[in-house]
Amino acid sequence: MKAIVCPKYGPPEILQIKDVAKPTPKENEVLIRIIRATVTAGDCEIRRFDFPSWLWILARLGFGIRGPRNQILGQELSGEIEEVGKDVTRFKLGDQVFGTTGFGMGAYAEYNCLPELGDTVITLKPSNLTFDEAATIPTGGITAMHFLKKANIQPGQKVLINGAGGSIGTIGVQLCKFWGAEVTAVDSTSKLDMLRSIGADHVVDYTKEEFAERGVIYDAIFDIVGKAPWSGIKRSLTEDGFYLNGYPTISRSLRGRWMASRSNRTYVGGSATDNLEDLVFLTELFEAGTLKAVIDRRYPLEEIVEAHKYVESGQKIGNVVITVDELS
Ligand SMILES: NC(=O)c1ccc[n+]([C@@H]2O[C@H](COP(=O)([O-])OP(=O)(O)OC[C@H]3O[C@@H](n4cnc5c(N)ncnc54)[C@H](OP(=O)(O)O)[C@@H]3O)[C@@H](O)[C@H]2O)c1
Repeated sequence: MKAIVCPKYGPPEILQIKDVAKPTPKENEVLIRIIRATVTAGDCEIRRFDFPSWLWILARLGFGIRGPRNQILGQELSGEIEEVGKDVTRFKLGDQVFGTTGFGMGAYAEYNCLPELGDTVITLKPSNLTFDEAATIPTGGITAMHFLKKANIQPGQKVLINGAGGSIGTIGVQLCKFWGAEVTAVDSTSKLDMLRSIGADHVVDYTKEEFAERGVIYDAIFDIVGKAPWSGIKRSLTEDGFYLNGYPTISRSLRGRWMASRSNRTYVGGSATDNLEDLVFLTELFEAGTLKAVIDRRYPLEEIVEAHKYVESGQKIGNVVITVDELS
């Protein structure tokens, strides 16, 4: 089968298209013919090995010392089940599914084997969602759920989302609106119209102003990129507010924990884990049309280098989809 291989950590050009062996499902696995994948900021970080310094050793051990142990990157996919292992009960041949590939990655390929239940999560694709839309949901959606659930957002609360224009933020903004919050979305100029269009009540262009200068106090700040000015966070959170940090550098984590230890505020850092319940919850909201996928560009699998360059440029609005198979 055709696959994109990342033989060692490096720039986008390190990615090569190759013929590799088609995988065979184990007894608890399904073989998925991949129709769409995505390129996320996280994929680019793994490709160039760009992690917070305190995670450096753990990440090298986890992902691979010189290059990714699993050379086929890609964390989310949509596709069709082509084979089922003998113990599989949740899926049958021909089912249209989507989900995460977890630490094993492997979505930049024509096929992938995933366990029906386990560290990765897959579920049935609603018929009214395209393969493109479905592929953009799992990573951003599960991460947004993981952090935002911790803040137990209530109707009327004020939530600020920093880095709102990407994979996690576009779902995060819509989830907060679904829960009845008043949402302020922070990102750069080119993302602001889209953020208004998906429901953000207020937008802030971080390249032109600091959100804290508006003097608004928030019940939760979801700092997806971990770059919101620290003084602004301290000034802009309620006394019992939540600081949700999606990119926990060591200094940010220490400051967050220190703040929490000396106040009624709550700090949430760490990593989201794939969670089937959350994916099913999100699927229902997408199926009902409550949440909408934000898709910027599509690239064929063969143009993965261009796709990585585009995502890395910071211009991506929402999600970038990879067309692995022409079926739509
Ligand atoms: N903790 C977890 O469990 C977890 C899980 C998945 C991903 N992540 C991490 O979360 C991060 C974001 O992921 P994503 O997929 O949402 O990325 P993304 O799609 O690239 O979106 C990030 C957005 O943040 C904006 N941004 C960059 N610098 C900013 C700043 N200083 N202030 C405000 N906005 C800023 C970017 O726009 P501009 O470039 O135009 O500024 C972009 O629109 C990645 O580092 C990823 O690895 C964490």
